[in-house]
Amino acid sequence: MRELSLHLIDIIQNSVVAGATLIEIELDANTIENYLKITIKDNGCGMDEETLKKVKDPFVTSRKTRKVGLGLSLFEAACQRCDGYLEISSEKGNGTTVTAFMKFNHIDRSPVGNIVDTIVSSLLNENTDIVYRHIFNGESFEFDSREIKKIVGDDLSDPEILCWTKEYIAENIENIDGGAIK
Ligand SMILES: Nc1ncnc2c1ncn2[C@@H]1O[C@H](COP(=O)(O)OP(=O)(O)O)[C@@H](O)[C@H]1O
Ligand SMILES: [Mg+2]
Repeated sequence: MRELSLHLIDIIQNSVVAGATLIEIELDANTIENYLKITIKDNGCGMDEETLKKVKDPFVTSRKTRKVGLGLSLFEAACQRCDGYLEISSEKGNGTTVTAFMKFNHIDRSPVGNIVDTIVSSLLNENTDIVYRHIFNGESFEFDSREIKKIVGDDLSDPEILCWTKEYIAENIENIDGGAIK
């Protein structure tokens, strides 16, 4: 079973390639209503209607080095396996939103995996800011790379800063869900 954080890395990479300067990622888990929802919203180049229609087909990709694009279709399969769905909305010139929805306690649901490392590694994309919102049963924590940059400057790739950021995000996630989101 592929971890959901690995799907997330794929989707974030799509946004970076699309030239997004801001990616907003939300992981919303609810054990009472039994759902897990992951949303990735970017302000990149977006897709025209024709591309959007075809995009969930595993044989569609705009890249030239490989014929099949798998990121979105693999993520969709992971959602559908556990009574969920993947929704993509996009507007040429305005950005793209990918929403993944699944049953939280479904036996086939992939584990979330290492969400902290996923977020921290996404900070290495110099021209892209990251907002990460972590919600558990309605309680939330939000991280915004622009806030960190106000304090330490635009370059977050310094190992000490990355280390500090990693601990900061990990601690706050732990405070929100106590390790319940797996
Ligand atoms: N966030 C996005 N913004 C603009 N276009 C996107 C975005 N995500 C996906 N696409 C388009 O959909 C195609 C398929 O994406 P994906 O399934 O991840 O495969 P791949 O990245 O290997 O091409 C991409 O090649 C791109 O044209
Ligand atoms: Mg991709």
